[in-house]
Amino acid sequence: MLSARCVWWWAVTSLGGHKLLVSSMRKFPYTSSSPRSLSSLRCCFQPIQHTTFQALAAASTSQAASDAFSSTAVPEVPAISGLADVMLSYIFGNKKATEVAHLIWERIVRKGDTVIDATCGNGYDTLALLRMVADESGLGRVYGFDVQKVALENASSLLEVSVNPNEKELVKLFHRCHSEMAEVLPEDTSVRLIAFNLGYLPGGDKSVVTESQTTAEALTVAKEILMPGGLISLVVYVGHPGGREELETVEEFCWKLPVENWTCCKIQMLNRQLAPILVFLFKKC
Ligand SMILES: C[S@@+](CC[C@H](N)C(=O)[O-])C[C@H]1O[C@@H](n2cnc3c(N)ncnc32)[C@H](O)[C@@H]1O
Repeated sequence: MLSARCVWWWAVTSLGGHKLLVSSMRKFPYTSSSPRSLSSLRCCFQPIQHTTFQALAAASTSQAASDAFSSTAVPEVPAISGLADVMLSYIFGNKKATEVAHLIWERIVRKGDTVIDATCGNGYDTLALLRMVADESGLGRVYGFDVQKVALENASSLLEVSVNPNEKELVKLFHRCHSEMAEVLPEDTSVRLIAFNLGYLPGGDKSVVTESQTTAEALTVAKEILMPGGLISLVVYVGHPGGREELETVEEFCWKLPVENWTCCKIQMLNRQLAPILVFLFKKC
């Protein structure tokens, strides 16, 4: 952090960015070492570093440098602060993988979007997705799938008590395997996000779990119907029989995706062997 501050100070003084100095002093609580201030540091420092070196590279005179610098030197604190906080809490073991997933979804999904909950279960993900797409336009849609009737009933009951009837209408639940998701979507639907929360129904029959074979089939379909700029999100559980094989299937699927079109990443706890694993497949624009 010390060297980062030196670079920052050198950039400010050599380029005359007084505006940046004042704004950064307001936004950057040097005195605290709490996680909150760490995320503030990241949010305000990263764009500064970027613009500093861009300006240095682009400008050959100090005036040009100053212009280039001051035009972008006071970045708004990007809207990632909530996400940064959740990531830190996750790293410190205080947040669940599903909470991280929801925060990531919020950055991708827009009002009026069509999204898919490939494993409805008790409906918590369905509800979170509905809240992201629903607005007064009534255009947003959540398509939900589960192979267990009881899961769909639970999801439906949760929606009943959580949203108004008009919003509930935006959710279409299907008692079908997620590998058949394309068959129920209206033709040419652009899907922004497809969420898989694999494994068994919490509080339900633990012998009914997602299976490697159908998960792979569903991913193949999902990859096609996802719009560019969309995201496939998976929470993978390895604590039940077949869970590790399913993770391997998901990973193999990701390895084969061309890097020109896809960014795939995995977030995994290393000293909690059974902790859920997050996998994100972002389809580039
Ligand atoms: C971990 S739970 C999902 C949790 C849920 N998303 C929530 O928010 O409560 C996994 C669900 O996947 C369902 N499932 C298993 N195989 C499936 C398949 N082939 N297609 C769709 N759903 C499936 C199970 O019945 C179970 O309800």
